[in-house]
Amino acid sequence: MSSNSAAGLGVLEAGGGTEDIQAKDNKVVHPWENLQNLGRNKRHVLTRGEGVYVYDSDGKRYIDGPAGMWCVNVGYGRREIADAVAKQLFEMPYDSPWSFTNIPAAQLAERLTALTPGDLNHVIFTTSGSLSVDSALRFVMFYNAILGRPEKRHIISRQDAYHGSTYLSASCGGKERDKTYQVFETDFIHHLPSPNPYRRPEGMSVEAFCDEKAADLENKILELGPETVAAFIAEPILASGGVIVPPTGYQKKCLEICRRHDVLYISDEVVTAFGRCGHIFASEAVFDIVPDIITTAKGISSGYVPLGAVFISDRLIKEASAAGSSHSVFANGFTYSGHPASCAAGLATLDIIEREGILEHVRDITPYFQERWQELRDIPLVGDVRGVGLMACVECTIDSDSEDALKLDYEIGNRIDQHCQELGLILRPMINMCIVSPPCTITREQIDEMVRILRMGIEKTMEDMRRDGRFKR
Ligand SMILES: Cc1ncc(COP(=O)(O)O)c(C=O)c1O
Repeated sequence: MSSNSAAGLGVLEAGGGTEDIQAKDNKVVHPWENLQNLGRNKRHVLTRGEGVYVYDSDGKRYIDGPAGMWCVNVGYGRREIADAVAKQLFEMPYDSPWSFTNIPAAQLAERLTALTPGDLNHVIFTTSGSLSVDSALRFVMFYNAILGRPEKRHIISRQDAYHGSTYLSASCGGKERDKTYQVFETDFIHHLPSPNPYRRPEGMSVEAFCDEKAADLENKILELGPETVAAFIAEPILASGGVIVPPTGYQKKCLEICRRHDVLYISDEVVTAFGRCGHIFASEAVFDIVPDIITTAKGISSGYVPLGAVFISDRLIKEASAAGSSHSVFANGFTYSGHPASCAAGLATLDIIEREGILEHVRDITPYFQERWQELRDIPLVGDVRGVGLMACVECTIDSDSEDALKLDYEIGNRIDQHCQELGLILRPMINMCIVSPPCTITREQIDEMVRILRMGIEKTMEDMRRDGRFKR
């Protein structure tokens, strides 16, 4: 027994042992499940968290590199959030958002819209990032229809984008491997090439690449006809695509193009908001754009309970309202829109961010975090290291013509992930990419610990591959 488990930390105390839970868990179809694995999965059972650490049912401690799924921004073990949720559940656990409102939802709307850029002063509450994106897209369709131009409904997204897992939001996704064996909307959703500077043509400068990617947007709008294009949807950084950081100024150029052609700009900040880039919203503060709509989720409640929000500009609301009639309702919303307990968690999360100066902390520690990650470039297996704020990606490359390159890429990622887990670090492995976005409270010492473990994980993988003769450098 480890010292952690001896102290009662992270140990399965009731309901059978780890293996029993793992067996029962095989009834659950997890996200991106390979159905052939059902019945054989042995996922770690996480039972407790504190700060940047989580503990499994054997008491083993890990640094949570991805903060859950880019969401536990204020870290684990926050009694304040749990208490706020419990108090709200006891006093008033639910009200129909169709007919009533509740105190936390109204207060959260007021506090958040005071923090949005520009005139994004209206909010639709949802329960996830997918539903925020879905609601934003439906609002855009509604807006154009009510303005008497329903043909203006085409949406432009990008390769490598991720926008969620509903039909519409997944159709905006740009990761081809996520699209196998399923049906997606292709009639009015279009994808531009990825703005990934690491993959730019040899000999092309980053500036020229930036111009080319912005031109891709303008060309697509012109090809479809500006009168048919409703919106461009873009994550400021393509997070799940591998923390792809477009060239400086790219977002601004794209916004200018959208403005020129009367196309709305939806900034998908499901990952980048609520501290991840050192600000509540990154669109204006980091990328110098004031979009028409911002979609959020995840860090808004630090992942403690489901919550999402879409912020819409006064201009759009006013125009839709002026063009509408007494029958023109925006028929969109959910049983749990503005759920009182979720909004109570949102308020408690904001309190913590403000009281502890978490945004300032992220801005302060980001240079150190990014510098330490860049050091990993000296490992021969590492091809690229990139990031912004407290999110980073190490992309490994192995030049192989002897084997199926994709299979090998998956193997590299899985091996690094396994070595790191054994050493006490959870990563978000994405094929050959190791992604992290730790809780925003992370300290220098904890960053050192992460980088040390990741270096060992990559080096061990490199040794494995050298032993097999599959890595020669
Ligand atoms: C940019 C972005 N948009 C939307 C989503 C979907 O969010 P959810 O999983 O909460 O539905 C994600 C999830 O990772 C995301 O990264």
